[in-house]
Amino acid sequence: MIKKGIVLSGGKGTRMSPLTKAVNKQLLPIYDKPLIFYPLSILMLAKIRDILIIVNKGQLEQYKKIIPDGKNLGIKITYKEQDTPKGLPDAFILGEKFIGNENVAMILGDNFFYGQNLSTTLLNSSKLTKGAKVLLHKVNKPELFGVAKINNQKKIISIKEKPKKYLSDLAITGLYFFDNKVINYSKRLKPSKRGEIEIVDLLNIYKSKKSLFAEFLGRGGAWLDTGSMDDYYKTTAFVSAIENRQGLKIACLEEIAFNNNWIKKKHIKNSIKFYGNCEYSNYLSKLI
Ligand code: TTP
Repeated sequence: MIKKGIVLSGGKGTRMSPLTKAVNKQLLPIYDKPLIFYPLSILMLAKIRDILIIVNKGQLEQYKKIIPDGKNLGIKITYKEQDTPKGLPDAFILGEKFIGNENVAMILGDNFFYGQNLSTTLLNSSKLTKGAKVLLHKVNKPELFGVAKINNQKKIISIKEKPKKYLSDLAITGLYFFDNKVINYSKRLKPSKRGEIEIVDLLNIYKSKKSLFAEFLGRGGAWLDTGSMDDYYKTTAFVSAIENRQGLKIACLEEIAFNNNWIKKKHIKNSIKFYGNCEYSNYLSKLI
């Protein structure tokens, strides 16, 4: 099982300016909690407890205010700053020491996943021992995404970033699982025309070695990107609709940790003190 995970949580957030001028995108709210809670919850659902959060330079203090360490969540949090957004595979170069000689999962800080069987899918993916695995999800407008074409053995035979000509309607989501070779492969990448090293190029190295695999988030699942203003507010509306209907919270980190038996009631009490008198704390009180 993969034990280490990275949340890539820096970036410029250009599309969401001026909201992102002073505050990093992942610290902005999606309904009732900061965006970073959602990708972090996904790694925790995959039973990953050793987590590196990569933030952009100048934002570390802000992040530490909301997630000081992982103690009350039963996880270990390490932070690392990224000087400038050099591209998604930079996570594995910056994370070299953190990853050590293990395999690693990486999730983009602005990606939202929800759905039935999600935990099972995540646990299946984190069984990866060799190669790379991506999580695919059907989309209506594949020309806006990186997409993957698969054969009948679920092996990826072709991938393309924002294809003009139809290739497949399976988008490559922002959750990836890699073996340890990812560090060296990432170091080999050359920046693309837009000046970044590209995840598609990294995945293509695995594909050329016939070791790129796919897992699926089926139609019962939702994958939302929160990168543009419109998508951002749609995600907020989605979370609010589900939470208010069910009375259950999406991405309540303490609840996940408690269900995983990583923390005890006293940790939840600490969290309640930390967050103060708010709706999130009321929810935590009900858990215990
Ligand atoms: P992007 O959507 O590429 O970038 P962004 O979020 O900064 O937004 P914009 O395009 O509007 O400028 O990044 C996807 C996620 O990955 C996002 O959560 C930011 C993060 N990221 C980094 O932390 N470092 C990087 O070098 C890159 C490219 C992205």
